Amino acid sequence: MAAAPVRFLPLLLPLLLPLLLLLVAAAADSGVTYDGRSLIISGRRRLLISTSIHYPRSVPAMWPKLVAEAKDGGADCIETYVFWNGHETAPGEYYFEDRFDLVRFAKVVKDAGLYLMLRIGPFVAAEWNFGGVPVWLHYIPGAVFRTNNEPFKSHMKSFTTKIVDMMKRERFFASQGGHIILAQIENEYGDTEQAYGADGKAYAMWAASMALAQNTGVPWIMCQQYDAPEHVINTCNSFYCDQFKTNSPTKPKIWTENWPGWFQTFGESNPHRPPEDVAFSVARFFQKGGSVQNYYVYHGGTNFGRTTGGPFITTSYDYDAPIDEYGLTRLPKWAHLRDLHKSIKLCEHSLLYGNLTSLSLGTKQEADVYTDHSGGCVAFLANIDPENDTVVTFRSRQYDLPAWSVSILPDCKNAVFNTAKVQSQTLMVDMVPETLQSTKPDRWSIFREKTGIWDKNDFIRNGFVDHINTTKDSTDYLWHTTSFNVDRSYPTNGNRELLSIDSKGHAVHAFLNNELIGSAYGNGSKSSFNVHMPIKLKPGKNEIALLSMTVGLQNAGPHYEWVGAGLTSVNISGMKNGSIDLSSNNWAYKIGLEGEHYGLFKPDQGNNQRWSPQSEPPKGQPLTWYKVNVDVPQGDDPVGIDMQSMGKGLAWLNGNAIGRYWPRTSSSDDRCTPSCNYRGPFNPSKCRTGCGKPTQRWYHVPRSWFHPSGNTLVVFEEQGGDPTKITFSRRVATKVCSFVSENYPSIDLESWDKSISDDGKDTAKVQLSCPKGKNISSVKFASFGDPSGTCRSYQQGRCHHPSSLSVVEKACLNINSCTVSLSDEGFGKDLCPGVAKTLAIEADCS
Ligand SMILES: *[C@@H]1O[C@H](CO)[C@@H](O)[C@H](O)[C@H]1NC(C)=O
Ligand SMILES: *[C@@H]1O[C@H](CO)[C@@H](O)[C@H](O)[C@H]1NC(C)=O
Ligand SMILES: *[C@@H]1O[C@H](CO)[C@@H](O)[C@H](O)[C@H]1NC(C)=O
Ligand SMILES: *[C@@H]1O[C@H](CO)[C@@H](O)[C@H](O)[C@H]1NC(C)=O
Ligand SMILES: *[C@@H]1O[C@H](CO)[C@@H](O)[C@H](O)[C@H]1NC(C)=O
Ligand SMILES: *[C@@H]1O[C@H](CO)[C@@H](O)[C@H](O)[C@H]1NC(C)=O
Ligand SMILES: *[C@@H]1O[C@H](CO)[C@@H](O)[C@H](O)[C@H]1NC(C)=O
Repeated sequence: MAAAPVRFLPLLLPLLLPLLLLLVAAAADSGVTYDGRSLIISGRRRLLISTSIHYPRSVPAMWPKLVAEAKDGGADCIETYVFWNGHETAPGEYYFEDRFDLVRFAKVVKDAGLYLMLRIGPFVAAEWNFGGVPVWLHYIPGAVFRTNNEPFKSHMKSFTTKIVDMMKRERFFASQGGHIILAQIENEYGDTEQAYGADGKAYAMWAASMALAQNTGVPWIMCQQYDAPEHVINTCNSFYCDQFKTNSPTKPKIWTENWPGWFQTFGESNPHRPPEDVAFSVARFFQKGGSVQNYYVYHGGTNFGRTTGGPFITTSYDYDAPIDEYGLTRLPKWAHLRDLHKSIKLCEHSLLYGNLTSLSLGTKQEADVYTDHSGGCVAFLANIDPENDTVVTFRSRQYDLPAWSVSILPDCKNAVFNTAKVQSQTLMVDMVPETLQSTKPDRWSIFREKTGIWDKNDFIRNGFVDHINTTKDSTDYLWHTTSFNVDRSYPTNGNRELLSIDSKGHAVHAFLNNELIGSAYGNGSKSSFNVHMPIKLKPGKNEIALLSMTVGLQNAGPHYEWVGAGLTSVNISGMKNGSIDLSSNNWAYKIGLEGEHYGLFKPDQGNNQRWSPQSEPPKGQPLTWYKVNVDVPQGDDPVGIDMQSMGKGLAWLNGNAIGRYWPRTSSSDDRCTPSCNYRGPFNPSKCRTGCGKPTQRWYHVPRSWFHPSGNTLVVFEEQGGDPTKITFSRRVATKVCSFVSENYPSIDLESWDKSISDDGKDTAKVQLSCPKGKNISSVKFASFGDPSGTCRSYQQGRCHHPSSLSVVEKACLNINSCTVSLSDEGFGKDLCPGVAKTLAIEADCS
């Protein structure tokens, strides 16, 4: 696959017209190639910025805008996994509609003029239910996932072939003149290979040759596959990949997953990765010879329906990504990275064709300098000190390098970008509530589930069964019921009796004699739990109904498909005369809910007789389905539904599955920080917010799911909540902030030309811009001097120009966007000579 680059091709084109067609045909045949430095596309080495956007995590109506935002952000390429269990719903039965319309998504990318990296997997992990593998495959006799196992390999091969053939039919592979430049087989298998012994290695090598035999004409990659064979490129997934080396000097250094944030877990606080650190990691990667870098994820989106992996991964897959869950660019992260990409692109030729010299500029400071034949010179200056800022001397000039930062010098002279100097404004977004608004008086209907077995039981068993083996994930819910007798003479002694439950996971609601007596669930990534609930027995027959639930199936780890879930032991203890072990009782089972059985969430079930109209819906009532007519929230801002008043359950709009909701609160002792120090190695527990608050309060409802009128919201509530307090909220940018210092680069990356630029030291500027249709309506804070703090909590320092506010108001008030230069002239005479000045502004948009 690694053919020699055809570098002279562009020069020949105008000269040798008759040969043109032949040459083009030859280039097309060879497709994308690579050498030890980079991919080679159309005969040219390329530096590529790639961005993950997973098609089923948004809706088709959002795709063009998301892809355009990625392109504006500097992306050359969109990356996506292919989601096997979304496509092969039963063996040989395929679904490629709506959110799963892979060809349509690929066309959106193509129409935007971007490349596509297709990570077929088809095991993907990805915080996706069962790691993307269809649950039915686990029940094919003899199937064992991700090892040298015939049933698994044969299904994996037919699905991979199916996808490759679809792409070939559309002529999407670069070798066919299309835009797919890379494909991936398997996923992070090298990290688990050992757990499968010799069969692991055999399977990995089989996967590689199966992929190569697909004849796509573009290179295959395997991420985290340390032993990838000769013609497959092993790539890196991590927060940092600058130190990564491929397993052969003939393979380029590719970073398939740079995590710009992290996923959320119900019941935990929310992780954030600072933009300074993301930029630092990317700059370091290109400084150290990297050539393709992909953000996993650039837009995370939403785990609609029951697609989320688990246990307990939230319905939101926001990921603190450069584009937020709702499709809005996240600032400053998105813009800071855009500026980084522009700066790196200014260096592309020298990086790819130049020779490298590495210099030490101090104990923790280093320069990597690339010089090429045409006289080009680029330098990356890094300060990898996790604490201290410094000034380094490079080619007899001085450069200010904050701790944990890289400066990019596309001409070995001017630092056009520093990863720690964030020039972009911060955009603050709020969820602005609206009422559900419908004016119809009879707008609510309810259906109450029976507690325990509805209709007839599915089977009776002495003792417990595995939950997943029983539901086969056709539903989250599995009822277990049993009963026992309490002697009339038994002293009901001050309620010291306890119902004790052991479960492998993930959650349970316990009912005694039709009353909800408690709920329990695993915590963090631990699905199992043990719980003791105080109960009040009655004389005679007592009935216990336990609703066991899954909350997203395991998505990774060796042998993950065998983890299982469900109850393992149930006792009544604390009784005067000992305890009752109910574990080996006769238990009656029922898979799923009655409302699910009738499809009450479907639009055509709106008039189902089981719905009973209510003027006021009941509150605090478990096991209740609610149906309500709702109006479309005004305007075109993205919409989230606020479920804070509810317990746990599922929600649908017009039959579209919004997903699991669960405003489970994170423990308040969790480590949250008011502000985040970007310096030093990042890990997901480092910069967290939302301690003591619901992990996820709002759930994305795509605009395209609303009709102009006649919208139906259906909610199934398990525990009890107040549905009258459910509201739609519009996601709206309400505020902009900026914090820029004099020593920030002041070069306009759009117009900068290194061949004509002198030392042009312009003054640094602040640029503020409200979203389209809004103006800067008030300036809440402005200080030119040495202010500190973060947006919404800036503070004046010792040096403050008294005219700060009036200068900013004059430049910015009542217009959509403005620029303020950090010159002393604008602000009056220099009140504090020798102090490097900063301008901090907080302003409202309306
Ligand atoms: C890079 O180094 C090699 C070996 O020293 C030399 O042959 C080549 O001309 C150099 N290339 C450039 C662009 O300086
Ligand atoms: C940062 O500087 C301080 C003061 O000079 C020093 O004590 C500390 O060790 C430095 N930190 C690192 C990581 O070098
Ligand atoms: C204790 O009393 C309860 C309630 O009458 C009865 O169901 C149970 O079997 C008794 N347990 C023992 C160990 O005798
Ligand atoms: C129930 O009792 C049995 C026997 O004492 C014990 O092994 C088991 O752990 C108990 N289960 C629970 C859920 O407490
Ligand atoms: C969940 O785990 C966290 C961290 O280990 C702990 O602080 C918290 O109290 C636990 N919460 C529950 C409900 O067990
Ligand atoms: C599920 O059923 C399979 C047989 O189909 C069995 O091998 C496996 O052990 C069961 N899993 C659990 C967790 O009980
Ligand atoms: C914003 O300002 C412009 C120009 O000053 C004005 O034409 C426009 O009506 C204003 N828009 C809003 C939403 O206030």
